[in-house]
Amino acid sequence: MKCSAFPKLLKRTILVLFAFALGAPLCVHLFDPAFAGWLVRDRSSEEVRLGRELYEARGCQACHGAAGRHPIFEEYPEISGQRETYTYQQIIQIRDGLRTNGASHHMRSAIQSVTDSEAQAIAAYLARQ
Ligand code: HEC
Repeated sequence: MKCSAFPKLLKRTILVLFAFALGAPLCVHLFDPAFAGWLVRDRSSEEVRLGRELYEARGCQACHGAAGRHPIFEEYPEISGQRETYTYQQIIQIRDGLRTNGASHHMRSAIQSVTDSEAQAIAAYLARQ
């Protein structure tokens, strides 16, 4: 080994040791269910749970079916799995009379009292179905 290679090797060894010192505790933590759960937790899960409750309590289910997937009539839309922002906007626009196309008026009375934040929670729930 040439003498000039020594500092390079030393630098690499220090780097490897440093990475290990940082990485090892993290690896140990990954086996800790509490830590792993925190890492992968869906931060909006509370909102999604609330959205589900609201979806059921506000009677959306009566027309759009369980989880927005089983509308009662052919001409009623499935409202699950769409983009959250899109679903939110449609709820607000139908509520506020800005969207009046098709059979939108069928659901106006059901969503009249839905607030903006409730619509947000319902949209978050529906987007994940
Ligand atoms: C009386 C039946 C009825 C009820 C109750 C109802 N809806 Fe609807 N909804 C409809 C119909 C019909 C449409 C389709 C409107 C159209 O023809 O464009 C619709 C459309 C929608 C859309 C737009 C879908 C899209 O792809 O653009 C969303 C979002 C929606 N409803 C959410 C809700 C939510 C949330 C509730 C409960 C607060 C609800 N609806 C309650 C009948 C209903």
